[in-house]
Amino acid sequence: MIGQDVKRAAALLKEGALVAIPTETVYGLAANALNAAAVAQIFEAKERPAYDPLIIHTDSIEKIQHLVEEIPDALKKLLEVFSPGPLTFLLRKKPNGISDQVTAGLPTVAVRIPAHPITQELLSLLDFPVAAPSANPFGYISPTRAKHVEDQLGQKVPYILDGGNCDFGLESTIVGLTEDGQIRVFRKGGISIEDIEGIVGPVLVNDVSASNPKAPGMLKSHYAPKTPIYVGQTSKVISGLAGKKIAYIGFNMLNFELPVEDQYLLSMGFDLKEAASNLFAVMRQLDQSKKYDAIVADWFPDQGIGKAINDRLRRASSEFQ
Ligand code: TXA
Ligand code: MG
Repeated sequence: MIGQDVKRAAALLKEGALVAIPTETVYGLAANALNAAAVAQIFEAKERPAYDPLIIHTDSIEKIQHLVEEIPDALKKLLEVFSPGPLTFLLRKKPNGISDQVTAGLPTVAVRIPAHPITQELLSLLDFPVAAPSANPFGYISPTRAKHVEDQLGQKVPYILDGGNCDFGLESTIVGLTEDGQIRVFRKGGISIEDIEGIVGPVLVNDVSASNPKAPGMLKSHYAPKTPIYVGQTSKVISGLAGKKIAYIGFNMLNFELPVEDQYLLSMGFDLKEAASNLFAVMRQLDQSKKYDAIVADWFPDQGIGKAINDRLRRASSEFQ
């Protein structure tokens, strides 16, 4: 059921039930992070493998401090500047705190303070943090509307808290430290590399192609629609797909080789943030319409949140190129 009753959502979480929650990035599938049976339901509902750790959501830096050994200075600075917001931190967890079930046995825990007002209100009613991965079946596109969650997980989630359309529309940026203490971006997302570097100077960045045992969920095939998606070199790709029904995803300019009615431009105003907020909803819409044999997309400008858009396009297309 979809609704806006925060108290009901809080009561369900306290009972150990699942609740889908809106965040400024994507919808999350939340459960009491300290309740093993509740957390097990997250993995079950998403059909998520146990090796893929979950992000903890809470509403204050103090609460984060209770869960971790320490917050290194550089990360503390980022936490203070960008929280609440779409930035997730990998921090060494305290013993006897967040379970190995949540962190897939890793010594670190991923934590963030989401900025959506409804979810902040919800978190303030709870005396425990919630674990929440994106509220989609494992490997599929993340949901950015309550309806997306209902369509795929409605049978498995007793309550979907409706917070409208997600503002950023793609997942949080994940940062942590390397063994030698340098800041590394493990997943590109809502907070740009440029914004981070503006605060702490140059950082290391994980690209999708790098195999990354520290973050097993960053598999290339994540965020994939079922319809094959091809990115870049559109002219060549389109001629190779002769006879197929093709949809086009672009920034603000039409592709002159395809019919106008099959084109989906993500921001007529040339605004990367708007484009990001529309990307998953459009990919999902094209996939679910079953009208198309293939999706063709152009790369976005590789700057700001455009880097995260390109990262998601690359992952979605990687099986086909
Ligand atoms: O914006 C977001 O981050 C959304 C909303 C709901 O908060 N959540 C989200 O969760 O994207 P999920 O589970 O779909 O992606 C979390 C990623 C996974 O790739 C997982 O492997 C990685 O974070 N992760 C979680 N804990 C980790 C850890 N301790 N070390 C390395 N990677 C970790
Ligand atoms: Mg996810």
